Amino acid sequence: MTKRNRAVTFSAPEMKTLLGGMSPQRFFREYWHKKPLLVRNAVPHLDRVLDGQGLLQLACREEAESRMVRQTRDNWQVRHGPFEPDELATLPKRNWSVLVSGVNMLIPEGDALLNAFSFAPYARLDDLMVSYAPPGGGVGPHFDSYDVFLIQGLGRRRWEISGQDDLELIDNCPLRILKRFRVDQSWELEPGDLLYLPPKYAHNGVALTDCMTWSIGFRAPTAQEMATEFLVYLQDTLCLDGIYADPDLTYSRQAGRIPPAMLRGLKDMIGKIRWTDADMEDFIGRYLSEPKPQVFFEPPARPAGHATFHRRLLAKGARLDARSRMLYQGHAFYMNGERLEADRDLASSLRQLADQRVLPPGPYDDMLSGLLYDWYRAGYLTTGN
Ligand code: SIN
Ligand code: CO
Repeated sequence: MTKRNRAVTFSAPEMKTLLGGMSPQRFFREYWHKKPLLVRNAVPHLDRVLDGQGLLQLACREEAESRMVRQTRDNWQVRHGPFEPDELATLPKRNWSVLVSGVNMLIPEGDALLNAFSFAPYARLDDLMVSYAPPGGGVGPHFDSYDVFLIQGLGRRRWEISGQDDLELIDNCPLRILKRFRVDQSWELEPGDLLYLPPKYAHNGVALTDCMTWSIGFRAPTAQEMATEFLVYLQDTLCLDGIYADPDLTYSRQAGRIPPAMLRGLKDMIGKIRWTDADMEDFIGRYLSEPKPQVFFEPPARPAGHATFHRRLLAKGARLDARSRMLYQGHAFYMNGERLEADRDLASSLRQLADQRVLPPGPYDDMLSGLLYDWYRAGYLTTGN
């Protein structure tokens, strides 16, 4: 059974502890993308949320995205979950780690912790990964392409970091391990301590005791990904008229040659592909709010009727499901990849829901209540705060 100390419930850290008293404005100005930041006791009581056994149980769940990393004398091995409980029960005493991504969608405390970082836009927040390792365990010296907040849950870990430009990786290794690692700074992190690292900052975390690290990850699409996905979007929205015709075709003995007039005609057709700012904005909203492919919503098994839902909304308000991604741009709202255009009144409540991820109890008009009811039936939100 997952051991959790329910006597002291975990509540999401407040800004004043999370960044060690620093305002988010100053954090973005001085640290974000620029330099590491260590904050002692940033997230109190995190060690009470989940222990090693609890994390290993999550790694056995079908819907969890999990990995096991094992370090042998001169090699690294990686296996992907879900795992069988038996195989996790027979692991050695040292030098391995199990990592589970998307923990924000698996336990409510994970959702609360991820949302505590909403001083950064939700469009940039990715997910919460939690790792467990016995002494000696870790994933080796590496760099991530994204900003990361590494928070110590249970136990102690030594973090070594380096601002080196040399990011060459070991060849033929199942993990991205740096060929050379020159340590600039190192710290021992205790429960609740937080280390922020900018993208591409080399780091190596080695467990000193049974150890858990909670990582807040960010998403930053590559240019290639944006272009590819936008072309897929365009394919669905594009509608060009016409068919190639060549009334002036003449005889040629070179039957294998593409006729120059045909080349020109077909290039003209391709050149008619156009898109507007509105197309790009619509694509971006849908793309950024689209849940990851492994995410499935669970609609209520026996949904309440609309009248009951409306009464619950009045008494308890509404809360987005941890899996839901809700973003907006002007009056255009994007809920899990779907677009909705809202009028002024609706937009103000929807903005509140997207920013806070909750709506307070209240008498909402039929339009909003109907929309929330549809989302409730799709499993995107529930009543209650
Ligand atoms: C870990 O939790 O062991 C790895 C986290 C990281 O280095 O990004
Ligand atoms: Co890393």
